[in-house]
Amino acid sequence: MYHAVIVAAGTGERMDSLVPKQYLPVLGKPVLAHTLEVFQDASFIQNIVVVINPHHQKIFQEGILKSENVGKRIQWVYGGDTRQKSVLAGVTALEEFSEDYVLIHDGVRMLVSHDILKRCAEAVREYEAACCAVPCVDTLKVTSNGRTIDHSLDRNTVWRAQTPQAFRISLALKALRKAEEEGFHGTDDASLVERTGHPVVLVPGSEDNFKITTACDFLRAEELIRWMNV
Ligand code: C5P
Repeated sequence: MYHAVIVAAGTGERMDSLVPKQYLPVLGKPVLAHTLEVFQDASFIQNIVVVINPHHQKIFQEGILKSENVGKRIQWVYGGDTRQKSVLAGVTALEEFSEDYVLIHDGVRMLVSHDILKRCAEAVREYEAACCAVPCVDTLKVTSNGRTIDHSLDRNTVWRAQTPQAFRISLALKALRKAEEEGFHGTDDASLVERTGHPVVLVPGSEDNFKITTACDFLRAEELIRWMNV
């Protein structure tokens, strides 16, 4: 069986807005509602755990849970002050399903597609750990002082991680707890599983599956939805 954890407990400091970005509208509907709809439409996903910030509970319940299309199969838990802690809270809520699989997803990647969910589900069934990602088209430079280049990376060997990242639930919990115990803070979930020595397979994502981060990203998402619906 498959389950999902959607992390949406961030405070969105990079955007100058009173309302956190996951609750701001894109074509009249909150970002998080768009994301949840994709997961709800995937009937192979049994439970959807949304991880929210305690300060956002009112807006979540009134703006998301009460909306017409959202509500089925959804439960929610409070997150922590880092993404990693929020993921741990979400996956812990699924502990009773430890032999099942979880797709962990950023609530702000609202243009994730059904095909991506299916690819992740198929990959995790075979490999126990899968990371959605896209190949890098730019050449990457490494700098330690922010001014001069230390060295360049071979872009053919570099992929940019996205979400969903999917794992057997027991493996995700082991990796998350090990990281917390050892004081390691990763910026994604695959990096925690990598530290356990378990291989993580790459699953092709999409350039459209971007994280809404800046005001410009709202315009980009609106244009993409209009274009997809033509
Ligand atoms: O901050 P970042 O861009 O990595 O956030 C990615 C996702 O993680 C967002 O959907 C955000 O709401 C979530 N997050 C969270 N708890 C935090 C920080 C971020 O659930 N403490």
